[in-house]
Formats: sequence, structure tokens, C-alpha cells
Amino acid sequence: MSNIKEIQRRRTFAIISHPDAGKTTLTEKLLLFGGAIQVAGAVKSNKIKKTATSDWMEIERQRGISVATSVMGFEYKDIKINILDTPGHQDFQEDTFRTLTAADSVVVVIDVAKGVEPQTEKLVKVCRMRSIPIIVFINKMDRPGKDAFELLDEIEQKLHLKVTPLSWPINMGPAFKGVYNIFSKSLTLFSPGKQVIEEGIQIDDLSDINVDEYLGEDADKLREDVELVEGVYPEFKVDTYLNGKLSPVFFGSALNNFGVKELLDNFIQIAPSPVGRESNVRLVKPEEEQFSGFVFKIHANMDPNHRDRIAFVRIVSGTFRRNTNYLHLRLNRKLKFASPTAFMAQKKSIVDEMFPGDIVGLHDTGNFKIGDTITEGEIMSYKGIPSFSPELFKYVENDSPLKAKQLAKGIDQLMDEGVAQLFIGKHTGRKIIGTVGALQFEVIQYRLEHEYGAKCRFEHITLYKTTWFKSTNKAQLKDFRARKANQIAIDKEGREVFLADSQFALQMAQQKYTDIEFYFTSEF
Ligand code: G4P
Repeated sequence: MSNIKEIQRRRTFAIISHPDAGKTTLTEKLLLFGGAIQVAGAVKSNKIKKTATSDWMEIERQRGISVATSVMGFEYKDIKINILDTPGHQDFQEDTFRTLTAADSVVVVIDVAKGVEPQTEKLVKVCRMRSIPIIVFINKMDRPGKDAFELLDEIEQKLHLKVTPLSWPINMGPAFKGVYNIFSKSLTLFSPGKQVIEEGIQIDDLSDINVDEYLGEDADKLREDVELVEGVYPEFKVDTYLNGKLSPVFFGSALNNFGVKELLDNFIQIAPSPVGRESNVRLVKPEEEQFSGFVFKIHANMDPNHRDRIAFVRIVSGTFRRNTNYLHLRLNRKLKFASPTAFMAQKKSIVDEMFPGDIVGLHDTGNFKIGDTITEGEIMSYKGIPSFSPELFKYVENDSPLKAKQLAKGIDQLMDEGVAQLFIGKHTGRKIIGTVGALQFEVIQYRLEHEYGAKCRFEHITLYKTTWFKSTNKAQLKDFRARKANQIAIDKEGREVFLADSQFALQMAQQKYTDIEFYFTSEF
């Protein structure tokens, strides 16, 4: 029996933004409209509050409650929507990149006053590389901000996206009156703080005098703007959006429930249902009979007495069934799962069957690491979860000699979870931890002590980048390995990396060894 119906009614996506643009608020409002929660303020998102930047105990606490909100599923108009939560804090960027591999589309939230911010740029770049369809939501229209045309220019330039507005704002800030939906030709009027959702007023022709009645002196401005929009921006075509070549833009105010329902209604119409994924041998399509999926996130249980974890698996094809034997490719072992978990709004429940696009949480005692593939028997591995060359490095040393085993195990498991990367000096045997942000070092130290009973200390290392490398020129490789012996380490997969202590050293190596390619991500 084919899953076509179940596949077609699913939408799995991530909301991304620079911190504070309104991702959490928008997520919450989407859940409200979907009837998944009853009151605002119920979502404890993966968001790490600004005040917590130096308080990593608080971060751990927040990570704990965020297990349930890592995936938020709900039903809306017979569509099963899975929102993948992404951490806002930039030190956890890699988490976000990995989560994006499990999403089929993305909504980018931009603050109308702040415009395109650095983290939005980075995240959208990753989406563009994978041609993920992107919808843009310009938030906080109730506040004074940038002119809509200027903002669209900025989005095109900084995010390298081709955009077309599907709705258009009538003023902003205190004078904000609402939006005209160019797509459905309807006018929705704004009333601050209103919790009731107004249906738009159908206006097929903007020259209609009713428009003047609703908008007064702003009516002519809207007419001019829409004429300009229609002249300047391309007509919206669903296919072009699905190919990642055109992004529709909506305006609204998540806090005031404004423009959110409109976004959701359009989203379910145009956003892609689950798409296939490339494995190392072939493209796997969702409608295939046999189950397959990959682990994109591992979340540690916050209870220090239990070292178990939840592995989040994106189902790519077939039907996942409880208590069924599946092949864990890396371990070459059959595993079955007695309590696979589905995530609906903030509730977890054990399920018997799940379909492509769904995220299943598997209780794990240490078998999984990020990027692992499980199948019904086929020998293949999903691609697309690379490690990035970290930004910060430290030697990690054992600080309680009797606990060397615990330390090794702890480090091993934290690396499987993707908290940081471990490199072992080929000559020195010293362990180097590389991270994206400074916070991870504190998180590692804290978790090693509280979950594994091991103490570690970090020591300074002068290191600019670790790069993976390869070459077909054997002589050059041999010479490079011999001369740089002290600067070569092994990553967790057993691959060699070059430890460049400065940008200059890396450039010198690149100039000298012209046949060697140096890579900043582990997939090349
Ligand atoms: P994030 O997840 O992207 O980091 O952002 P979040 O939703 O937490 O929103 C950041 C701040 O912006 C919050 O205020 C939130 O209430 C506010 N906000 C979100 N949408 C709108 C909007 O449409 N209009 C206005 N005016 N504000 C909006 P905060 O004071 O930082 O937090 P809180 O105390 O309200 O939670």
C-alpha cells in the first residue's frame, strides 16, 4: 500500500531568523491557529534568552525543556504540519544547519526595523546551497521600520534571493493599517492586540471606491504601490518557488496575530510536501515502499541518573513501524524500537506508524550519532550532514586521573551528539576540541562532570582552522604529511585534518602544495 495520501498532506519546515526577529512568537501563533495550543505563552521554544548568555546552567535547563519543542506537529485543515525548532543562539548554529537537512522548506522571519541581520544571511546561504524553498515573513509591522521597497531590495542584495511580495503593507508603526493580499486580492485591516482573526475583505479591483472608505488618504498610496509592485516584481509561480528560485514575501505582526493566518493558509497551499533525499548510491523518493531515514539531531536526557538520549530521525521513505527490525548502517546491526515517539505540539506520544516527512524520536543508549542512516535493509547512507571547520579550539585534558574512562566515554558521546568536534593529534595523541561558539566549552565541562562524573580542563592552543584535505598527487601528499607531521590530526571518522595555526600558514600550504585541495567542510 502506498503512502501517497499521507505524504501529500505533510509539510515539514523550519522557521529561521536572527535572534529576536520573532521566530518564537510566530511559532507559537502558528500553533494557536492550528489549535495545537490554547493560550499564548505556552511554547517554551529552543530559544535561549539573551540574559542566559553567561549562565550556562540556565542554558542547560532550557535545553532540557526544549526536547519537547524540538519538533512541533499539528494538524491544520487536514494538513499535518511539522515545525522543526532551531536554536536562535549563534553558538548553536551547527544545530540549526543540521536541522535544516530535515526540513523541506523554510520560513525566514525578518524584523522590519532591523532588516537583514548577520545570522539570517548565514542561514539563508545554507538554504540556498540546497535550493530549499523559502518564504519570507516581515515581522513587527506595528513598529516603525524600513520602507517596504527598500527592505525588499536589501533582501535581494544581502540574501541573494529573488523575491515577489504576495501581500503589501499599508503604512507601518503606529499608522499601520493592514495589508493588501496581492495573491488573493483581499484587504485585511489591522487592530492592535486583537486576538480574533479577521477574514480579509475581497477587493478585486483596487480602484473600487470602497478602498477609499476603508483606508482614507492611504488608498491612493496603496494603489500606486501595488501598481509599482506588479510592474517591478515577477509574477508568483509555485514551481519557481519550489525550485528555490523565487521567494514570496508576506508582511505582518506575529505578536498581534496579524498576517499569520494568511501566511499559514498560503503556506499549506504552496509549500512542498516531503521531498526525497540523496543517498550515496541513489535518490530515494518518499513514496517508495521501504522505510529509510537519517538522524539529524541527538538530544541528551537531562536526568543525570540516566544517560539515555533521544535520536531524532527524519523519515525519508516508506512507513516506520514500531517493534520492527531496521538496519543501522554504520554499526551493521539490526535494531528495533519499542517506544518510538511522535511530537505533537508540546506533547510526546508513542506511535505505531509514521510517514515520510515525520520526525520520529528514538530512545537511544549510545548507538546513534548524527548523520546515521537506518533502512529496512538497503545498504546506503544519506549524505548532506557535513561537519564544518570549527572556529575555536582547545586542548582537553583529564583533570581526575581515576576517571579517564568516564572522560573518554563522555567526550565520545558528546561528540556523537554534535556538541563539538574532536581531533586527535597524529603525533602527540593530544585531544583537541573544536567548537563554533565559546559556550560549548562550558557546556562540555559541565556535562562531563554532571553526566559522566569526569573532570576536564582546557588548555590553550594556537589554531586558526582545521581543514580536511585530499589529493591525487601522491608525492605531494607524502611530502606534506612528512613536513607537517606535527600539524596533522585525525577526526572522529578517522580522516586526516590539517591544523593550520594561522591564516598565513594555511595560505602558504595552499601555495606550496598546489595539487592538494583543502576543505572547510567534511563533505567534499
Ligand atoms: P526570536 O524567537 O526570533 O528570538 O524572537 P521572539 O519571538 O522571542 O521575539 C523577540 C521579541 O520581539 C519579543 O519581545 C516579542 O514579544 C517581540 N515581538 C515578536 N513579534 C512582534 C511583533 O509583531 N511586534 C512587536 N512589536 N514585537 C514583536 P521581548 O520583549 O524580547 O520578549 P517577551 O518578554 O515579550 O517574551
